[in-house]
Amino acid sequence: MTSFNMDNNHNQELYQVISDRITNSPQNRITFAEYMDLVLYHPQQGYYARKSTQIGAQGDFFTSPHLAQDFGQLLAKQFFQMWEILGKPNSFQLVEMGAGQGIIAADILTYWQQEEPEFWQVLEYIIIEKSPQMQVQQQKLLQPFCQKTQWLDWQDILDNQITGCCFSNELVDAFPVHQLIVKDGKIQEIYLTLSPENNNFIEIADMVSTSDILDYFQTLEININSYPEGYRTEVNLAALDWLKTVSNKLKSGYLLTIDYGYSATRYYHPNRSQGTLQCYYKHQYHNNPYLNLGNQDMTAHVNFTALEITGKSFDLQTVGFTQQGLFLMVLGLGERIANISQIEVQNAQQMQKVLQRRQALHQLIDPTGLGNFGVLIQSKGLTQSPQNPPLIGLTVP
Ligand SMILES: C[S@@+](CC[C@H](N)C(=O)[O-])C[C@H]1O[C@@H](n2cnc3c(N)ncnc32)[C@H](O)[C@@H]1O
Repeated sequence: MTSFNMDNNHNQELYQVISDRITNSPQNRITFAEYMDLVLYHPQQGYYARKSTQIGAQGDFFTSPHLAQDFGQLLAKQFFQMWEILGKPNSFQLVEMGAGQGIIAADILTYWQQEEPEFWQVLEYIIIEKSPQMQVQQQKLLQPFCQKTQWLDWQDILDNQITGCCFSNELVDAFPVHQLIVKDGKIQEIYLTLSPENNNFIEIADMVSTSDILDYFQTLEININSYPEGYRTEVNLAALDWLKTVSNKLKSGYLLTIDYGYSATRYYHPNRSQGTLQCYYKHQYHNNPYLNLGNQDMTAHVNFTALEITGKSFDLQTVGFTQQGLFLMVLGLGERIANISQIEVQNAQQMQKVLQRRQALHQLIDPTGLGNFGVLIQSKGLTQSPQNPPLIGLTVP
């Protein structure tokens, strides 16, 4: 049993919400996944409900679109080619899931409006966003595109309604995960309860809350019970439910997922003995999910193998997997970087701008950072015609 004191930077209302949930739950305990869901997404007190500037320079972390518009523009090029491969249907739905501040959407829509008038006519941009507060930010930024953009919940979309592409950047790592620990030679789940002495959160380990966790390891052919005592890791069951939903809604087209993560063998390597959970507060990261309660982001890496294997059982075929750095380079980032050196600068201010731009583009492909993110593309309902060219982003330079 490990007990956690609340630090001075915690949200007392959120602490109360979680304590009440524990008190009213069977056996007076909740899973870590329930805890993470409340911490991030409680509609009033959750991290994504309260803070207005979590993402970006003033916030706790930044994502690729904060660096340069090029990220959205190059994605836009890839989506355009998908439309061509689909036979240029009269209506193409681009569904962005977990759109943050709406920056990718703004960059993509601006690009298409200016560069691809034919495609612009047939495009419908749909956003699926869990946080009402994030939706407000998105709607503000995307006001100039209100004719083209709509915010929907999954239940507003019929099964097999979407022809186009569903995509996300850093969504799957934000899903609540189950935390597990090997104890007494078998896998057990981490639960939170309250200390009878001082009402602090206490972690306890007990039998897994659902057999889906055992099925998950079995599907991956990982004998987790044989791992060293104290080995701790995560399982993202929410990602599998999400895949099922996306597949149900997609009639014909693609699912493109960008995130940090590993293959299953790297994810569950016996040496990765403390899992992948990471918390972000003011651009610092650590692995204590009980600090800064409600004021820090919390993520876990994505197991791309699980997305591929489970995807297949929902009719999502893997088209390819690559790294963000390679993906962006073949879509044209290399040329854009080369073009920077052709820019003639007249003064120190211009020089500074050029240098900043060069640095931002390099960050997008940095193999020790964003460039190492995984890009997984899956498809559904496509006839694999030999005439179809490969997706540009998956070609090898
Ligand atoms: C880490 S942010 C990434 C934002 C954005 N994609 C970017 O690249 O800047 C995660 C986003 O996913 C949203 N989100 C989390 N779970 C979600 C879910 N189940 N459905 C839709 N959106 C979700 C969060 O509210 C937030 O907007």
